Amino acid sequence: MADDDRPLATQIDTGRPSVARMYDYYLGGKDNYVVDRAAADQMMSAVPESREMVAANRAFLARAVHHLAAEMGIRQFLDIGSGLPTQQNVHEVAQAVDPDSRVVYVDHDPHAVVHGRALLATGKNTLFTHGDLLRPEEILNDPKVRALIDFDRPVAILIVAILHFVSDEDDPTGILHRLHEAMAPGSYLAISHILDDPRTHAIGKILTASGAPPWYPRSRSEITGFFDGFELVDPGVTVLPQWRPPASAAVPLHHTPDSAQELRWQVAGIARRD
Ligand SMILES: C[S@@+](CC[C@H](N)C(=O)[O-])C[C@H]1O[C@@H](n2cnc3c(N)ncnc32)[C@H](O)[C@@H]1O
Repeated sequence: MADDDRPLATQIDTGRPSVARMYDYYLGGKDNYVVDRAAADQMMSAVPESREMVAANRAFLARAVHHLAAEMGIRQFLDIGSGLPTQQNVHEVAQAVDPDSRVVYVDHDPHAVVHGRALLATGKNTLFTHGDLLRPEEILNDPKVRALIDFDRPVAILIVAILHFVSDEDDPTGILHRLHEAMAPGSYLAISHILDDPRTHAIGKILTASGAPPWYPRSRSEITGFFDGFELVDPGVTVLPQWRPPASAAVPLHHTPDSAQELRWQVAGIARRD
């Protein structure tokens, strides 16, 4: 552990489930504790396709980054609420297209940051930093972030499976507006978000009962509204399996078309800032 990670490490709470660690467990990682596994197992009992949904979300993230790097020429990525490193991490996908691509991971979970830094053993073009989406100004003005991301050039900001942890009181629209202001023309915003659905409400009850952070399902039109001021790219806001399914196995989809019917409670989209 780096010396400057020690204060962060003391903030790690192993008594309550952490979203980052539960997500790691779902994806087959080892950076999780009994409390995380217990809450995630309860969620899988209530909604059996939960694990598949997490994999489908992760696959969307990889497809999105590949699309932005390979088709749209994006070379800078700011991944807010990145979680712990797992497979198909943003820097791996982006730097496979161009090794000079720059990637900044941001998470508010101290465990994700401390273990993320250790696991990534990052090169000079990749950084993992501690930050909170609720305070976008601090992320945008962080000198470490600015050392890698030039906001005068197009950047992709990834808000994937995180905005549903932001309540209306915390003003997600205002946060996105601030990010929009900071993005140069030609930049992109990617969002995935859970839908208002009996299954997401069932999971929400388990999250709250277990002491994990609550989540806030929203309607498709509310989620589409988060892209106001941006130009949605095809195919718009869709359920995860339908967002540009890959023609080849180069970027795995992680699920079969049969299961796509079940995966109807999370949507995603990408939009351009003109
Ligand atoms: C479900 S995981 C998603 C991980 C990754 N974005 C993905 O889609 O594969 C959500 C992550 O967002 C982080 N998170 C939640 N609220 C946050 C906030 N206000 N600021 C920064 N990170 C946050 C959690 O700690 C967790 O790591």
